[in-house]
Amino acid sequence: MTAESAIRVQGIEKSFKKLAVLRGVDFDVAPGSIFALLGSNGAGKTTLVRILSTLLKADAGTATVCGFDVATQPGEVRESISLTGQFAAVDEVLTGRENLMLVARLRHLKNPGAIADGLLARFSLAEAGNRRAATYSGGMRRRLDIAMSLIGTPPIIFLDEPTSGLDPQARIEVWQTIRQLAGQGTTVLLTTQYLDEAEQLADRIAILHKGTIIQNGTLAELKKLLPAAQVEYVEKQPSLEDVFLALVGDTGESDDTDSAATAPVGKDLR
Ligand SMILES: Nc1ncnc2c1ncn2[C@@H]1O[C@H](COP(=O)(O)OP(=O)(O)OP(=O)(O)O)[C@@H](O)[C@H]1O
Ligand SMILES: [Mg+2]
Repeated sequence: MTAESAIRVQGIEKSFKKLAVLRGVDFDVAPGSIFALLGSNGAGKTTLVRILSTLLKADAGTATVCGFDVATQPGEVRESISLTGQFAAVDEVLTGRENLMLVARLRHLKNPGAIADGLLARFSLAEAGNRRAATYSGGMRRRLDIAMSLIGTPPIIFLDEPTSGLDPQARIEVWQTIRQLAGQGTTVLLTTQYLDEAEQLADRIAILHKGTIIQNGTLAELKKLLPAAQVEYVEKQPSLEDVFLALVGDTGESDDTDSAATAPVGKDLR
């Protein structure tokens, strides 16, 4: 991998029939960093992840992952990444250990049993390793899913809403795993709707809204977009949630009208 961006997205567009979901998306992700993509339901986060992981073709624009073009070098891209999709992809009939061994075999690795045991221990699943995944809790299933995606130590990992549906404890465990990964040099692109998740984890945060990235920066940079509110003598720092809702509007789903609820972005907010 070059010292340049681990992921580079330039002018990506994607429509489903008349629905223009991505209308020119641009961003870069530095190697070894955690990049969070925020957006409301239907903003196009999963669509973008599917394009970057070669599961879907863009209509326009270019994207490189690990220096490889997703359109013209999909095989090389797939060798460089792993994807944990929005919905856990574990095989329920198999045990946790068998799920891990299956992926190790598919990746043609030696000693799949030893790889499986190492990951079970690392993800606190050793005791449950020989139980069918159907009996796992949501958090255990998620941890197994992420463990499966680490097999073969890909340099770039995509996590689409890695903690949706998890209880706070399980979320914290997944966060620790993600931090460890980045600490070891893995580049992580995650999508999330949990703003505190982005605050906790991300080196950079980008907000996808109405088909484009409307803001991209560090947490500190995003917080500077809103002035600190003065309430008598108490100074309140805006949370990332305040910034997000001001940028996106607090109506949830994006709508056709550019409603007045959507605050102006960028320097205009000062
Ligand atoms: N294969 C498809 N065919 C038609 N429309 C699609 C297809 N995939 C996605 N869409 C539409 O594109 C839009 C973006 O969907 P996408 O799944 O990328 O959103 P998202 O940001 O991941 O949302 P969520 O937070 O709910 O996961 C939605 O309106 C969705 O209905
Ligand atoms: Mg999604």
